[in-house]
Amino acid sequence: MSVLLLNLLFVTIVLNLAAMAAGEDEFVFTGFKGANIMVDGVATVTGNGLVDLSVGQETLKGHAFYPSPLRFRESPNGTASVKSFSVSFVFAIYPNYRPSQGMAFFIAKSMDFSSALPTQWFGVFNSANEGNSSNHIFAVELDTVNNRDLKDIDANHVGININSIVSNKSNTAGFYDDKTGFFNTLNLTGGEGLQLWIDYERELTRINVTVSPVGMTKPSRPLISDIYNLSTVITEDAYLGFGSSAGRDDSRHYILGWSFGMNGPAPAIDIRKLPRLPRFGPKPRSKVLEIVLPLATAAFVLTVGITIFLLVRRHQRYAELREDWEVEFGPHRFPYKDLYYATQGFKNKNLLGVGGFGRVYKGVLPKSKLEIAVKRVSHESKQGMKEFIAEVVSIGRLQHRNLVQLLGYCRRRGQLFLVYEYMPNGSLDKYLYHQDHNKPQPNLNWAQRFKIIRGIAAGLLYLHEEWEKIVIHRDVKASNVLLDAEMNARLGDFGLARLYDHGVDPQSTHVVGTIGYLAPELACTGKVTPLTDVFAFGIFILEVVCGQRPIKQDTREEHPMLVDRVLEHWHNGSVIDTVDTKLHGDYDVNEAYLALKLGLLCSHPFMDARPTMRQVMQYLDGDRTTPEPLSPMDTNFEMLAAMQNEGFDPYIMSYPSSTASHGPAFIVSSGR
Ligand SMILES: Nc1ncnc2c1ncn2[C@@H]1O[C@H](COP(=O)(O)OP(=O)(O)OP(=O)(O)O)[C@@H](O)[C@H]1O
Ligand SMILES: *[C@@H]1O[C@H](CO)[C@@H](O)[C@H](O)[C@H]1NC(C)=O
Ligand SMILES: *[C@@H]1O[C@H](CO)[C@@H](O)[C@H](O)[C@H]1NC(C)=O
Ligand SMILES: *[C@@H]1O[C@H](CO)[C@@H](O)[C@H](O)[C@H]1NC(C)=O
Ligand SMILES: *[C@@H]1O[C@H](CO)[C@@H](O)[C@H](O)[C@H]1NC(C)=O
Ligand SMILES: *[C@@H]1O[C@H](CO)[C@@H](O)[C@H](O)[C@H]1NC(C)=O
Ligand SMILES: *[C@@H]1O[C@H](CO)[C@@H](O)[C@H](O)[C@H]1NC(C)=O
Ligand SMILES: [Mg+2]
Repeated sequence: MSVLLLNLLFVTIVLNLAAMAAGEDEFVFTGFKGANIMVDGVATVTGNGLVDLSVGQETLKGHAFYPSPLRFRESPNGTASVKSFSVSFVFAIYPNYRPSQGMAFFIAKSMDFSSALPTQWFGVFNSANEGNSSNHIFAVELDTVNNRDLKDIDANHVGININSIVSNKSNTAGFYDDKTGFFNTLNLTGGEGLQLWIDYERELTRINVTVSPVGMTKPSRPLISDIYNLSTVITEDAYLGFGSSAGRDDSRHYILGWSFGMNGPAPAIDIRKLPRLPRFGPKPRSKVLEIVLPLATAAFVLTVGITIFLLVRRHQRYAELREDWEVEFGPHRFPYKDLYYATQGFKNKNLLGVGGFGRVYKGVLPKSKLEIAVKRVSHESKQGMKEFIAEVVSIGRLQHRNLVQLLGYCRRRGQLFLVYEYMPNGSLDKYLYHQDHNKPQPNLNWAQRFKIIRGIAAGLLYLHEEWEKIVIHRDVKASNVLLDAEMNARLGDFGLARLYDHGVDPQSTHVVGTIGYLAPELACTGKVTPLTDVFAFGIFILEVVCGQRPIKQDTREEHPMLVDRVLEHWHNGSVIDTVDTKLHGDYDVNEAYLALKLGLLCSHPFMDARPTMRQVMQYLDGDRTTPEPLSPMDTNFEMLAAMQNEGFDPYIMSYPSSTASHGPAFIVSSGR
């Protein structure tokens, strides 16, 4: 089976070879690279195998010939008629700023065109022998100039020329559509490949000329059909070729492929294997210039514009304020970009709360996935910033299980960011007072409350005595006590703390803190000592035990101050009645009594009467018996009562008018 197939194949190949051997009657050029073709004048074969008939700036002729003559008739006497033949070729004309002259295919008696003229004569004819039957030239012209002297019909026509530059028959270049029958004009100088067929029928002496865009099947209706007995024109042996002339216009006349068949159709030209037309040339260039280039330019400009815009916006969005002195604090500085991403651009849904200085946002650091709370503080003055940042960084070194860790900071124009550990259970004030009556409020049981009091006491003791420097918190209050995941109390907001070295007399110029927690001596002396923290801590204890704010908002109350109410009950011996009713009596009476007593002791108006935090710790641990707040200091309280009778209420007077509204002065503005 396969042997048979091989045999058949072999026979076909042999037959083909035979046909080719017989083949002076037939040829096909698919491109002209290394082909047996002759060129003269300005004509060349390009590197990729195109015949270019018209290279050059001068008005010179150029020809391409099939190098050997073909036998068109059998008898030497010229009596026998010319055989049927068929020619096909693919060409393209690139015009420049002036239209090219065009080109011609010819069958001629010789290759000698020395007397032929260039330009409109295509390098084939001349004025001296015009129309002379001894010329023996049959030509098909592709004329792109409307030359009235030569009886041209237009500047884009195909013509049959017999011994003459004047066409025997011509037609505007185009083809008849096989389906619709409509005529479609083709632009000879459109720079696109076109295919042309010439078919001569011996019996009818009919010449058919057909043109179509390259790649299209040959239209069945020819463009020109002329009856002319070529036996009087074509010699026995004749040469085939193309002629053109270079104008000053630098136009191009390319031939891509060519085939010929004697007594049969010209072999098909494999369009896919034809050499590529050059990319330059007016048509493709105009396409590039008019459509692609402006589009590309616009796209480029747009891209550059958008990139610059994005870069500028990005730069502005993440711009930071950074100064030389900050270098040493580098490790504690957060890039603004990280904070921006962590808080999703400081979105309101991440807002944890609003305090006296600014807003606090929850965030998750992009790289470490660490949960943080970012406090955004607006500040304008640069004064004291260096000292403040130095404080922040040294505060960052404080580490205690009852303190909220300060992780670092960041600065922008007009803004300062303090980054803290995130406390998932929020601030204590939310647990102590009912804010929204519709929502069930989480309540704290007695054990939790007592643990919180002890925790904060331990934290304050660490600040006052256990670190290398004395740190005074200055803003101890329920909203600055935060609860971590295990409900441990952690003292927060060290941005307000004031640092000074051991032994150095503390000096302070202005009051920082919150109304209701300010020790009375602050109003008189402005002197900040650890005992002012103890005062605030005393108020804080009462707050936790009684579940009430230090100052009642309701002004009709006889005693707006919580401490006054507790003191009154203390005098009446009913102090245990002040314990938060939300506990429903479920508490340790001894512990509650101790806590209330300590609260009063710590918030004593005279600072000398207050215990230190170390003593407070000891009282809470039961290592020491707690002094009675009244008995040893009766005289003091009598004095106090006397002062109150004269209209001086140390609790009410305990803050300066400048901080009368909520929101104490910020420490940054120190050094007035
Ligand atoms: N580290 C943190 N983790 C979780 N929530 C926090 C954290 N820090 C602050 N918050 C929340 O943000 C709220 C606002 O805090 P902020 O410190 O700004 O105000 P404040 O404590 O009420 O007043 P002040 O400005 O006097 O400190 C707090 O009430 C608390 O609910
Ligand atoms: C052709 O002409 C030659 C003489 O030139 C003559 O001998 C010959 O017979 C002629 N042949 C035909 C077919 O006419
Ligand atoms: C064409 O011309 C030749 C010689 O002139 C003649 O022999 C032939 O018969 C002609 N053909 C037709 C179809 O008239
Ligand atoms: C045609 O050309 C031939 C040879 O070139 C010449 O002898 C003859 O006179 C020319 N005929 C005419 C009419 O010009
Ligand atoms: C074309 O050739 C034919 C036959 O010789 C002739 O009758 C006719 O006039 C020619 N037409 C032109 C336009 O030259
Ligand atoms: C043919 O195409 C060329 C180049 O695009 C153009 O300059 C010329 O005007 C066109 N000619 C016709 C007849 O459309
Ligand atoms: C020439 O054209 C006619 C129609 O005008 C057509 O009938 C004929 O088949 C064509 N001849 C060839 C060889 O294509
Ligand atoms: Mg706070």
